[in-house]
Amino acid sequence: MSNVLITKEIPSTAKNYLEEKGHKVKIACGFEDNKALLEEAKKVDALITMLSDKIDQDFLSHAKNLKVISNYAVGHNNIDSNFATKLGIAIGNTPDVLTNATAELAMTLLFAVARNAKSAMRNVSEGKWQGWEPMGFHGVELNAKTIGIVGAGRIGQAMAKMCHHGLNMNILYTARSKKTEFEKQTKAQHVDFENLLSQSDIVSVHCPLTEQTELLFNDWAFKKMKKGSIFINTARGEVHDEGALYDALKSAHLFGAGLDVTNPEPMSPNSKLLELDSAIIFPHIGSATVKAREEMALVCAKNVDLGLQNKPLVGDVNNIYS
Ligand code: DGY
Repeated sequence: MSNVLITKEIPSTAKNYLEEKGHKVKIACGFEDNKALLEEAKKVDALITMLSDKIDQDFLSHAKNLKVISNYAVGHNNIDSNFATKLGIAIGNTPDVLTNATAELAMTLLFAVARNAKSAMRNVSEGKWQGWEPMGFHGVELNAKTIGIVGAGRIGQAMAKMCHHGLNMNILYTARSKKTEFEKQTKAQHVDFENLLSQSDIVSVHCPLTEQTELLFNDWAFKKMKKGSIFINTARGEVHDEGALYDALKSAHLFGAGLDVTNPEPMSPNSKLLELDSAIIFPHIGSATVKAREEMALVCAKNVDLGLQNKPLVGDVNNIYS
């Protein structure tokens, strides 16, 4: 019997699956700090972690019994997987099952920003709605616009397909390699970052957070974007510089921004972005559908069980058993 710690409550599918496989499962309610998490992690063979748990070299070197860490997210920048590989710890994630949920959330943000949803809703909730307004709330029509997808992985491609097939949009994308099948399906064009910025009416971020993508969207990048364009980020907040984004919105160089991720998280309630009607901000809910979260819980549990048997994981980040 192995001991598994889930660092925060997730759908019970995970616990049920692991218990059926004979493991002992403890569910925590989050931890005050990383030190407290480490103390508990030292006692177990496997962890199911949240994207907010920082699993760095120090943590990994001290949690001596860990054989597998299964992240309840597709992004795994919170875990030093290279170091984990050196220690022989398997790292899992939850690809595929949250692709549609996250792409749909990116679309939600895009529609909401394009149609001034924040100021329109405030107008109603603050009792300022006087009657039908011929000159107010004029937004951006999305049909046949050009969207630039930064990082055409699963989620980026899913969003591009919705935009192309649903809204007749032209698709530009950046990715480490050309995606031939994706290009056939959406007539997408592989371009460099600068061209993507200068030609897109909407730029949507779907790349992982790495040393190369950290603060990729800085002052320079926002200035390169077309005047009146829209910025969407559902990937990781550290990819954009919040101050530079604020300037780009405040000066009306950008029409608006939709963020599901902020830098840092949670966002400070004093963030100047919150003052702007053109910035619509969600609390990192990309994968938050009943279906996606249930399936993520099951994938996480399978990853743990497989890792404990030295078998390749379903969502395998470091492939140590393949
Ligand atoms: C993840 O799982 O990494 C994403 O942030 C989902 O929103």
